[in-house]
Amino acid sequence: MLKDKKIVLGITGSIAAYKAVDIASRLTRAGAKVEVVMTESATRFITPLTLRSITMRPVVTGMWETSSEFSIEHISLAEAADAVVIAPATANIIAHLACGMADDILTCTVLATRAPVIIAPAMNDNMFTNPVTQENIEKLKASGFVFVDPGAGRLACGRAGVGRLADIETIIGTLRQVLGRDGDLAGRNIVVTAGGTREPIDPVRYIGNRSSGKMGYALASAARDRGAEVKLITTITCMPETVGIDVVAVDTADDMNNAVKTAVKEADALVMAAAVVDYKPQATAKSKIKKDSDALSIGMVKTPDILAGIQGDFVKVGFAAESENLVANAKKKLKAKGLDLIVANDITDKSCGFGADSNKVTIIDKSGRVEDLPLMSKQEVAEKILGRVAELLISER
Ligand code: C5P
Repeated sequence: MLKDKKIVLGITGSIAAYKAVDIASRLTRAGAKVEVVMTESATRFITPLTLRSITMRPVVTGMWETSSEFSIEHISLAEAADAVVIAPATANIIAHLACGMADDILTCTVLATRAPVIIAPAMNDNMFTNPVTQENIEKLKASGFVFVDPGAGRLACGRAGVGRLADIETIIGTLRQVLGRDGDLAGRNIVVTAGGTREPIDPVRYIGNRSSGKMGYALASAARDRGAEVKLITTITCMPETVGIDVVAVDTADDMNNAVKTAVKEADALVMAAAVVDYKPQATAKSKIKKDSDALSIGMVKTPDILAGIQGDFVKVGFAAESENLVANAKKKLKAKGLDLIVANDITDKSCGFGADSNKVTIIDKSGRVEDLPLMSKQEVAEKILGRVAELLISER
């Protein structure tokens, strides 16, 4: 989603300026064209050469540089930008913007742009919580500026408090959310499930599986990036970035079933990427089972098939992990569970599936159309699946 997007990255004079190098690097690796604008104070903390080397593009540091005879740098940057991110943003730039003061290249660029502006403050906690700074932030928020709140922790001044630059994942997640807010799923509610369920044997042990939750998280963020309201029902809650995603933590298949039933009342689509455990212990022991006997048998009963049991006027997408007859078995499941789409993958292929960052899938719809995708990152697979969901929503509903 960031590919070929023009992002102006404004860097101001905070000790957190070194973190902007990582932001520039990640955006560049994601295919964005990153135009770095540094204030004079920012150049005291990190060098323009670092940013130029990372982005492979010129870095703007002053008002009086022009890339060509007829170009006024801040106006051309402002007009070309898909989004502006100021990270880190000092109390100073926030105050200047709140007063409409265009007194350096960055404030001029920001005031001249019609693109969304995301501000990630980083400063001393007293400066951040000062009513003047808070008033400036409120004023800018009311004008449509998007803030990524700083975190709490140890600050460069030695104090502990609120003022640390937000996590880079959160800043980039916010950028993606903002860039996608008018996407083809805007106004739609999408429910995604992720992770493997855990069925308790006793208070410390459970039956589970190797699902990492990566595919589900990629689907949730891909839906968010197209403008959807996303509810992610998941057993895995330690993923780095869930900006704009409503995360519902669950544990067992029964928990997931209940959460899905509630969530789909409002949904336009349900994408079940979770690996639901098929059999659970008949009963959960109240206390930890002792290893007194040489063998142990646990009576098992079937868990509810969430996808097969859920009905309603929404697009239903399921997954099929198969080790043989991929398309034929997936088609059977699509029919049996009343799905609109099924995403099948071959679990004997080691480059994809559980835990991997990539996946090779075949998408089959209820008309029988089979789309074979090459090996891709899970994020790219998620984008393809959400593209198909958006097509179905446009054509059917
Ligand atoms: O039948 P199978 O487990 O292969 O089906 C996989 C699909 O069904 C996945 O989308 C999975 O999330 C869903 N499923 C479910 N409830 C179960 C088992 C699987 O919703 N008990």
